[in-house]
Amino acid sequence: MNKSIKFPEHFLWGAATSAYQVEGSPLADGAGASIWQRFVNTPGTIRDGDTGDVACDHYNRYKDDVALMKRIGLQAYRFSISWSRVIPQGRGAINQKGLDFYDKLVDELLANGIAPLVTLFHWDLPVALDDQGGWLNRDIADWFADYSRVMFDKLDDRVKSWATLNEPWVVADQGYLHGMLAPGHRNKYEAPIAAHNLLRAHGAAVKAYREVGKHQIGLVVNLEPKYPASSDPADIEACARAHSQMNAQYCDPIFLGKYPDNMKDVYGEAWPDWPAEDLVLINQPIDFLGINYYTRSVNRHDPKAYVARATPVRQPMATYTETGWEVFDQGLSDTLKWVAKRYGNPPIYITENGSAFYDPPVAEGGKVNDPLRVNYLQKHLRAIHSAIEAGCDVRGYCAWSLLDNLEWAHGYSKRFGIIHVNFETQERTLKDSAYFYKEVIATNGAVLDTVPAVPSTWRGEPMCTN
Ligand code: BGC
Repeated sequence: MNKSIKFPEHFLWGAATSAYQVEGSPLADGAGASIWQRFVNTPGTIRDGDTGDVACDHYNRYKDDVALMKRIGLQAYRFSISWSRVIPQGRGAINQKGLDFYDKLVDELLANGIAPLVTLFHWDLPVALDDQGGWLNRDIADWFADYSRVMFDKLDDRVKSWATLNEPWVVADQGYLHGMLAPGHRNKYEAPIAAHNLLRAHGAAVKAYREVGKHQIGLVVNLEPKYPASSDPADIEACARAHSQMNAQYCDPIFLGKYPDNMKDVYGEAWPDWPAEDLVLINQPIDFLGINYYTRSVNRHDPKAYVARATPVRQPMATYTETGWEVFDQGLSDTLKWVAKRYGNPPIYITENGSAFYDPPVAEGGKVNDPLRVNYLQKHLRAIHSAIEAGCDVRGYCAWSLLDNLEWAHGYSKRFGIIHVNFETQERTLKDSAYFYKEVIATNGAVLDTVPAVPSTWRGEPMCTN
């Protein structure tokens, strides 16, 4: 067999979750409510009225879950901290029991040889801060830095990798522009402000980390490459707007200290002029970029499409996941190459990548056959490998997700886990994808040579790189 696939020697293999999606017990032991607690209790927001009250009960079962991680051979576990579990009002008094939970989780991981990768904010803002304007209030940069300092003081002796934010685009776009996620606002004027304050908060936390931290810190963005639906200049322009709004709006200020030139074209009069010192704060050097990659979009000009006047076009020959996302592995290597070229080849971790498909029921003997998820995993790992061969500095990969969990507004109807969770009994079952991933880890990717490469059907034109 021709052994072509080999990942770099210290490539880190992990899996990811987030606090509200897996922990359950959101108000236990003195925790304060988060905006997700409020959102799920607002009628009509979440499919089937699902909530995170129990979720995967990870709060109580974390030791069993760490044992499962060990069984798969994971070298890293990416999880997030619930801000209001640790500081119930978002500012001020600390809830010792909440802090202890993360302290014990970190110790349990380390005792099992698994590196903790901590994300400080994965969408569950304390309600008490939302009541003071949340991400619309400029003071939030200081609130976030203060909270981050509490976590650095407690865990930096053992945690070697920190991410400030998870996917600021989703918070601004889905939380403040389209209202599908908490806090459920729909306001073109708010979205740029929320996005900007998220980035300022990131900058303030990185600054705080440089004073007290000893390891690495970065942030996690979700990047989705945009491909024009045709060579019509109107489609290319639309694609450029969509690309700026989703990708460059976040990465440019971080790495280049400025916003893309076409932001006013995207948001119109809703895009303000920002104080120069804000951009200096945002443009702190970071140690790595975390990239979450799921899909791409092919766009055409559509004057009615809110807010970038670009509409995604479905691809006739493509495979779509249960969340309606095209399986397009080339988009991942294109994205990695775009980041390397535009931002000077920063160290990258793929902090999330995965797919939701309907899984068959757990078969007798505890088997879950999920070939589509296995196939997705194979393709995307190959895409990463090809980007590494092209010179991109990719240092690790986290599968999304370790466990089936609360998929936000979809409730429990979409399963992303490599481990199946029975939400009635909390029983966990490793899916075939988990066994495949175990082999990937054990062979540092070489097992990918034993499965045929299945190309995506439509390879597409190069992405917009404005
Ligand atoms: C988020 C996860 C989410 C996943 C699948 C990412 O946008 O970080 O919380 O479950 O995508 O939708």
